Amino acid sequence: MPAHQEETLLPETGYSTKVDNASQCIDLRSDTVTLPSAEMKKAMVEAILGDDVFGEDLTVNQLEKRCAALFGKEAALFVLSGTMGNLLAVLSHCQRGDELIVGRHNHIHKWEQGNYAQLGGISATTLKVNPDGTMDLDDIEDAIRANDQHMPRTALICIENTHNFSGGKALSTDYLKSVRKLADKHKLKVHMDGARVYNAAIARNVDVSEICSYVDSMMMCFSKGLGAPMGSILVGTRQFIDEARRKRKAVGGGWRQAGILAACANVALDRAVETIERDHRHAKLLAKGINERTPEALKSVSHFLIL
Ligand SMILES: Cc1ncc(COP(=O)(O)O)c(C=O)c1O
Repeated sequence: MPAHQEETLLPETGYSTKVDNASQCIDLRSDTVTLPSAEMKKAMVEAILGDDVFGEDLTVNQLEKRCAALFGKEAALFVLSGTMGNLLAVLSHCQRGDELIVGRHNHIHKWEQGNYAQLGGISATTLKVNPDGTMDLDDIEDAIRANDQHMPRTALICIENTHNFSGGKALSTDYLKSVRKLADKHKLKVHMDGARVYNAAIARNVDVSEICSYVDSMMMCFSKGLGAPMGSILVGTRQFIDEARRKRKAVGGGWRQAGILAACANVALDRAVETIERDHRHAKLLAKGINERTPEALKSVSHFLIL
């Protein structure tokens, strides 16, 4: 960190962020630039550890059990990053030669190097994403392949909630229900990139478990807005998570005494609702302030801040 920057506690939360003392600027580039709170650092030091590849890290085990219950699924897997969680989900739902359906502007397709193709031999049909983060249901149904030897097999629909490239839009419960219905009709699985699922739950005033009830698997990040330094969780059926655990080892994600990081994730979860509610309050205040003070030309830019 440059000399003119120092770690500064945000008074309401205990989370710290980088503040440039020369300009008094708070770093708002991303919800990933937070630094771990004092509470997280203490939890790291005190965490009970073991070898997670042997299933012996009690802090990781406790986090996985907690997340399975919280998101209403049978099992959970703690992974290094959101990208790894999404990749393991796709590799576990699909076989080589299968195809997934995904929004053209979804993180899984646009920002993860097409890893499902690189590493899994899986192709994608990419669809237009509407300004509200949805893909049209008719487009999804049209993209589902016929049972024909000329074609790949459609195996998976990938949705994203909140939708990053649409400015953080939260999908409605009705939309989630419709995607579920369509997937069931065609015997397809649904994976949700829920990197920021708490933002979605709070924006839509529903529980995270209700959002997850419409999808087969979901990935959420502790390092986005919740303040943990790293780590994401993947949830789904026991069988799916067992498969994802195997794949995680194959991509080098067996990470031994990972309880140090699971301890931070636990603190992040303890405070998830209050943290994101506060962030939404602040974002609305900021958007209101910008809209009241900026010239017309800039207002269209700042509108995206209004949740
Ligand atoms: C919607 C979404 N999914 C997945 C990811 C990937 O997470 P990570 O950076 O932890 O790999 C991101 C990262 O910003 C994201 O915004």
